[in-house]
Amino acid sequence: MSKRMLLALAVAFLAAPAWAEIPAEQDSCLGCHGSDPSMSMDLPGGEKLPLHVDQAAFGKSVHGDMLRCTDCHTDKTDYPHDSKPFKTRRDVTVAYYEQCKKCHFANYTKTLDGVHFQLAQKGNQQAALCVDCHGSHAIGRPAEPRTRVSQTCSNCHKQVFDVYKESVHGKAVTQGNGDVPVCTDCHHAHDVADPRAGALSLRTADICGRCHTDPKLMKRYGLSTNVVSSYLSDFHGMAASLQKGKKGKSDRLAAGCTDCHGVHDIQKPSDPRSSVMKSNLVKTCGKCHAGATADFPKAWMSHYEPSLKKSPLVWTVQLFYYVLIPFILVSLLVQIALHLWRVVVNR
Ligand code: HEC
Ligand code: HEC
Ligand code: HEC
Ligand code: HEC
Ligand code: HEC
Ligand code: HEC
Ligand code: HEC
Ligand code: HEC
Ligand code: HEC
Repeated sequence: MSKRMLLALAVAFLAAPAWAEIPAEQDSCLGCHGSDPSMSMDLPGGEKLPLHVDQAAFGKSVHGDMLRCTDCHTDKTDYPHDSKPFKTRRDVTVAYYEQCKKCHFANYTKTLDGVHFQLAQKGNQQAALCVDCHGSHAIGRPAEPRTRVSQTCSNCHKQVFDVYKESVHGKAVTQGNGDVPVCTDCHHAHDVADPRAGALSLRTADICGRCHTDPKLMKRYGLSTNVVSSYLSDFHGMAASLQKGKKGKSDRLAAGCTDCHGVHDIQKPSDPRSSVMKSNLVKTCGKCHAGATADFPKAWMSHYEPSLKKSPLVWTVQLFYYVLIPFILVSLLVQIALHLWRVVVNR
């Protein structure tokens, strides 16, 4: 063992020009950990812990030119050093990820509210910690390019990703479009909310509205910006607003955007796969409106403002009210004024 290490150190010394800028303290860590790619140790749990650190990858990482090995491995100060009593590979991750907290306290605090941390607390060993999403030594810019974000999540959520990448949003991301949502636009990266609480579905007016009410953004695609206002002023949006913040069985009663459009499989309404395609609408409404017939969706305004062309009857009634109500109100005021005038004059 010691012979191999001496050799490793010698090789490392000869290769010195390549890592001349790396501080001396780091040379000594990499003298052992950066030279032999097969370096590893056996853990009591039966797994092998690889001990090789790719020096070039570390150098190119976001920390490469500013952190020392000992910034994260604070217990390793002398050589050879003591090894921690790890049983499994996961123990290593759990122990060292805590170090990220030191410098990235804000993100660490956010994860405490996230579904992954809560699942990890309950003993779910697969739930993502910093290192699972970012790596440990070869950490890159997490959102460059933007497709990288959804790729990160897809490592563990492949089923969702496979559906998403075929959707109107996912397809555009793959083509390099930066306007459409990636996983974290809806879920956040660190404080990922638990979707089972139903709260996500009620919050969709905000989540989707961020882009779908942005006139500059929507103009590029010729899409309407009134989908949110029309939703909020119809019974579904109103019911959802009323239910916000209330807990209980009825949490998912009101329809959010995603109850009609789908979640990860959102398509253009003209796409045969779309849940809001005319021929699929009865089924979509039927999820909540038992016994909905073909006429049921027809009786509903969708996102349309009533107009002379789209639904002339509703439009006419609306116009009538727009004229009639102000007329009645103004007449009422005039009448009161006349009464007052009479009282004053007759006195
Ligand atoms: C003389 C060679 C040598 C040097 C120098 C060295 N290590 Fe190690 N390191 C080892 C060996 C061997 C192991 C496996 C320990 C075992 O088998 O008990 C190890 C294990 C580790 C581990 C995994 C086990 C644990 O307890 O975390 C880390 C992390 C580590 N070293 C970090 C470092 C850092 C950081 C430095 C520089 C400050 C460093 N090492 C310097 C040889 C070395
Ligand atoms: C930004 C913090 C950070 C820095 C800087 C860092 N490490 Fe690590 N290191 C970690 C984390 C986190 C783990 C646990 C990774 C895992 O579970 O896969 C780890 C694990 C290790 C291990 C155990 C085997 C492995 O890869 O999981 C060794 C050996 C090691 N580091 C050596 C080094 C050396 C040598 C350097 C300096 C070149 C260094 N580390 C710099 C965070 C860091
Ligand atoms: C000793 C302090 C320190 C520790 C410990 C540390 N970091 Fe960093 N990290 C930094 C600094 C400083 C930067 C800023 C680099 C930059 O923006 O160029 C940074 C940048 C980053 C970035 C890129 C940020 C961006 O805006 O693109 C990520 C991701 C990151 N760190 C993740 C981690 C993870 C994961 C860990 C734990 C394994 C960790 N860091 C541990 C200091 C630290
Ligand atoms: C579930 C995966 C995941 C986990 C777990 C995670 N991150 Fe991130 N992180 C991301 C993604 C994706 C981004 C890119 C920004 C975005 O999309 O919001 C990011 C961005 C960052 C950034 C740079 C930009 C910013 O928002 O400040 C830092 C620094 C960072 N994470 C550190 C951490 C630390 C520290 C932890 C652990 C406490 C952690 N992350 C846990 C996925 C994750
Ligand atoms: C290291 C693996 C891993 C990564 C990477 C990861 N997750 Fe997770 N995530 C899990 C596990 C495990 C669960 C628990 C549910 C399960 O077993 O499917 C979970 C649960 C969730 C849940 C709650 C849903 C449920 O069924 O409990 C959401 C939402 C979620 N992840 C979103 C994300 C997002 C967004 C990203 C990327 C920023 C991401 N995850 C990255 C492992 C991961
Ligand atoms: C346009 C917004 C949006 C995007 C983009 C998005 N999600 Fe979701 N996701 C949601 C909503 C809303 C729910 C809750 C669905 C419900 O209430 O039934 C959800 C539910 C989930 C769940 C839990 C339920 C399930 O279907 O397993 C996971 C896991 C998840 N998303 C992961 C991801 C991942 C990974 C990505 C990226 C590939 C992603 N999401 C992209 C909005 C989105
Ligand atoms: C980050 C911004 C963003 C968010 C958040 C977002 N979208 Fe989109 N959406 C877009 C863009 C941009 C397009 C146009 C994509 C294209 O045509 O290539 C689009 C397209 C669509 C389409 C297809 C419209 C058509 O006729 O072509 C529907 C339907 C849709 N989104 C619904 C939703 C719903 C529902 C949500 C919330 C769960 C949502 N979107 C969240 C940006 C966003
Ligand atoms: C009750 C079901 C339902 C709800 C709830 C709903 N939509 Fe729609 N949406 C539809 C139908 C049906 C269409 C197709 C209209 C048509 O083309 O005739 C549509 C069309 C769209 C379009 C395409 C518009 C265009 O200009 O081509 C977008 C974008 C959209 N909806 C977004 C949303 C958003 C965002 C929400 C939540 C604020 C939402 N929808 C809520 C049923 C619904
Ligand atoms: C996720 C469940 C859900 C879906 C999907 C859904 N709705 Fe509703 N809808 C409701 C709820 C809940 C109400 C009652 C709101 C209130 O008045 O409190 C409602 C009310 C209505 C009303 C008012 C009259 C009535 O029956 O109470 C109409 C009309 C309607 N929905 C049409 C539709 C159409 C058309 C579709 C399909 C495009 C649809 N809904 C899809 C949940 C849903």
